Amino acid sequence: MPPSKPTIGILTGGGDCPGLNAVIRAAVKSALKLGYDCVGFLKGYEGLVDPVAYMPLDLTNTANILLQGGTILGSTNKGRFSALVGEGARVQIDPTLLAAAGETVRQLGISGLICIGGDGSLAIAQQLHEHGIPVVGVPKTIDNDLGCTAFTFGFDSAVACATDALDRLHTTAASHERIMVLEVMGRHAGWIALHAGIAGGGDVILIPEIPWTFEHVCQKVLDRECEGKRFTLIVVAEGARLPDGGLVHDGGGTGKDDVGAGATERRQVRLGGIGEIVANEVAKRLGREVRALVLGHLQRGGTPTAFDRVLATQFGAHSVRLVHEGRFGQMVCYRPPDIASVAIAQAITTPAAIDPGHAAVQAARALGIGFGDGVDSSPFA
Ligand code: F6P
Repeated sequence: MPPSKPTIGILTGGGDCPGLNAVIRAAVKSALKLGYDCVGFLKGYEGLVDPVAYMPLDLTNTANILLQGGTILGSTNKGRFSALVGEGARVQIDPTLLAAAGETVRQLGISGLICIGGDGSLAIAQQLHEHGIPVVGVPKTIDNDLGCTAFTFGFDSAVACATDALDRLHTTAASHERIMVLEVMGRHAGWIALHAGIAGGGDVILIPEIPWTFEHVCQKVLDRECEGKRFTLIVVAEGARLPDGGLVHDGGGTGKDDVGAGATERRQVRLGGIGEIVANEVAKRLGREVRALVLGHLQRGGTPTAFDRVLATQFGAHSVRLVHEGRFGQMVCYRPPDIASVAIAQAITTPAAIDPGHAAVQAARALGIGFGDGVDSSPFA
């Protein structure tokens, strides 16, 4: 049956994060006010193709989801729509899938498709756009590694989670005079480690952007002991490379590349395990008690912070505005104090790594927080 009203489609792709539902709610509420109907495609881009799976979205089924973690539409970072195989390296989606997605959009009379996702999901959105599908992007990731936006939603909630973990580790580390290593997410960028490390009173922060050595990490521990501090908190991003350049992934293996060769497809390796390696090496070198904790997917779950709810709400409303104004191929972005937009193509080719001279890094160094690179003196001196 042909649609009775112009319709906006919404989907969530890639790994989930707090605030996805807040975007969906904001988009639906503002779209309905402009006279659109809304549908949500299920399990990311998969819902667009055989078997097509979607649900109508209205004021009833989007009520009370502002504070709900995850996504009511479901999501996946695997499957037929995988456009990302490592930082900056992209693969072409099967043209028959793009054609099928286009056919679904046409048949449902979708005037605009709002794709909420990180770099991988937005790389898919860009391919849909190039295929003539009217898409608009919304940047999501706890890692905050997407370019052209000051923040992605989900990041603040992940930082709050990691900071809470550090607060808890602080008291037990101090009580037992131990070194505690907290491994946080952050595949290509160390934003979570940097912000949580500062907010949670970390002593050493290891991130992908700043090469580090075990000698300098251990020296920091010894320096603290000379100051009478008998415990140390080390925060390490999962994507921080070992001193030899290796990434730690899938069950403790290491490799230079974050792409593994699967039987049928190249895939991103599952990072994790660097915290344990750092803990073991520091324990071996210093003969101290060290414990490691992987915070993992706790950072992706739970209720979004107030900041993320506000950002997600602004992104959701602005994405509808972009559809309404026919500004397709654009991604909403945060340029404080404004919500603006930028070409998706530009956003996905501009990763947001931490500049080692970033103000937050400088402030951390000024306080004596180490980055494992031996540059421990105040940059202001
Ligand atoms: O991109 C966000 C992220 O949380 C990364 O930090 C992490 O490497 C990845 O997703 C893990 O994804 P999953 O375990 O869902 O495959």
